[in-house]
Amino acid sequence: MARLNSLCYIPSLIMPMLALLLAASLLPQTPSPTPERPRRIVLDVDPGIDDALAMLLAMHSRELRIEAITVVSGNVIVDLGAENALKLVELAGRDDLIVAKGAKYPLQKKLITAEAVHGEDGLGGKKLPAPSRKLDPRHAVDVIIDIVSRNPGEITLVPVGPLTNIALAFLKAPEIRSQIPEIILMGGSIVGGNASPAAEANIYNDPEAAKIVFESGIPIVMVDLGATSQARLTRKDLERLRAADSRIARYAAELGDFYIAFSESLGFMAGADLHDPLAVGLAIDLSIATDLRPMHIQVETKGSLTYGETVANRYLLLEAIEDAGDHYRISSFPRVQPNARVPVRIDSERFLGLFLDRLTR
Ligand code: BDR
Ligand code: CA
Repeated sequence: MARLNSLCYIPSLIMPMLALLLAASLLPQTPSPTPERPRRIVLDVDPGIDDALAMLLAMHSRELRIEAITVVSGNVIVDLGAENALKLVELAGRDDLIVAKGAKYPLQKKLITAEAVHGEDGLGGKKLPAPSRKLDPRHAVDVIIDIVSRNPGEITLVPVGPLTNIALAFLKAPEIRSQIPEIILMGGSIVGGNASPAAEANIYNDPEAAKIVFESGIPIVMVDLGATSQARLTRKDLERLRAADSRIARYAAELGDFYIAFSESLGFMAGADLHDPLAVGLAIDLSIATDLRPMHIQVETKGSLTYGETVANRYLLLEAIEDAGDHYRISSFPRVQPNARVPVRIDSERFLGLFLDRLTR
């Protein structure tokens, strides 16, 4: 695609710009939710420290109405993730919420858990009381199918773990795909990976599921590693959380402390990326993304070095070729429809302000 930058192949730079404009107009321009008209979401998590922070943010944001929290294996095995989700829901005093346990394993590959990042218990060893309430008796996949099909056109999916539960729901009930207006997911990367040089952890943990989701036809906002690298939590932010007169804020500070220490131990710059909270932040207010680019994303499920990579067609054009005897030559540049928007630039200050305000309130 580097060729497409060259004036030799594109008669004018106007053509790709027109393609991008056209593509942008084809994607939903979702109005920002308000407390009076909240976005109804199913939050799919693998808690996990940043999942926990994302849950706390969602549970404290009146622009979101959480229809269910569904749990998938990822950072920790699903039994532990589900227990953590229950604990967090109780911490936030949200006993009204449905919490359902989902897939134990990815569709085809072996699960890779990340206690090395999130601690043995998935919450950095930051203890919470054992939950007194129970999980919903249904499988998370059935909960997703049920909620979407009873509310067609109303439910945004916000998955911040591997996409196994979502893909299983689409395999079991393909008709729900046309009833989901939008998916805002944390996963993927167009700037290199964190689980492998090419792949981001959530997609790497279940590329076959991710492929199903990206091919579902549902408009996606892909909150990738490039976006989350602009959403940094620092030790200074922890001070504000610690000083707040709120149990939730103080617990978030403890989680953040563990999370930052891990990130810094790898030699990254000070602080840590708020991956999953950013996806929730954009579900609350998409205008936090100041540059939301339409792209066509395909998930690599074959490559040995690139397994799980989200391969992005940023120009929304392809090279078509024709036979020219002993070689081929380019015949045209057919357009490609976008299936996702990627927040390539976010207003970091506004996001962090929202995150800290909500947690300290
Ligand atoms: C993603 O991987 C997980 O470890 C985090 O919870 C986040 O969802 C970041 O790559
Ligand atoms: Ca996660």
